[in-house]
Amino acid sequence: MSKTTWKAGTMLYPAPLALVSCGDRPENYNIITIAWAGTLCSEPPMAYISVRPSRYSHELIKQTGEFVINLPSAKLARATDYCGVKSGREVDKFTHLKLTAVKAEQVKAPLIDECPLSIECRVTEIKPLGSHDMFMAQVLAIHADNKYLDKKSGALDLRAADLICYSHGKYYALGKQLGFFGYSIRKKKR
Ligand SMILES: Cc1cc2nc3c(=O)[nH]c(=O)nc-3n(C[C@H](O)[C@H](O)[C@H](O)COP(=O)(O)O)c2cc1C
Repeated sequence: MSKTTWKAGTMLYPAPLALVSCGDRPENYNIITIAWAGTLCSEPPMAYISVRPSRYSHELIKQTGEFVINLPSAKLARATDYCGVKSGREVDKFTHLKLTAVKAEQVKAPLIDECPLSIECRVTEIKPLGSHDMFMAQVLAIHADNKYLDKKSGALDLRAADLICYSHGKYYALGKQLGFFGYSIRKKKR
């Protein structure tokens, strides 16, 4: 295989796309698009987002110590881009995009009602890394749109939620399912 080598940079793709909502009252509610986000730990459940100190949301999250990670579906792709190019210092993104801020259970930051999944988070540590500060956070509650829950078992059908991801400057819908956890070693039924 012939390969080209570049200097160090960011190339860990695909990355998740999150609409992170923050603020502690309707007057300062805001949304920032975040691709540098992920799971840190299963038990206790912890997640992180990395945010540049210049962002308005950085100020809000640092002040309140809380945020919500909302996962957008494909029909929110345009809104996701908008929240990543416009600052809450200039525009009320909830109003402009006609998104609905819903009261969360554990934190003052709002849930975005139109997103299929919302993850309430409380900051446990802020780690300055360079261009970005990493907000490490404890996951306090998860909200799923009932539309994606099996009526009998309550199982979440995440595929039906039509989530999107970010890869090298572009937005993508998820593709076809290739397997499931552990399928490579599962014995075939005869
Ligand atoms: C696809 C995409 C991903 C982004 N990911 C991040 C990120 O992980 N961290 C960050 O600080 N900014 C990220 N941004 C930029 C912010 O979303 C953008 O600067 C936004 O306007 C900040 O809003 P605010 O000033 O209201 O907080 C991203 C933008 C886009 C379009």
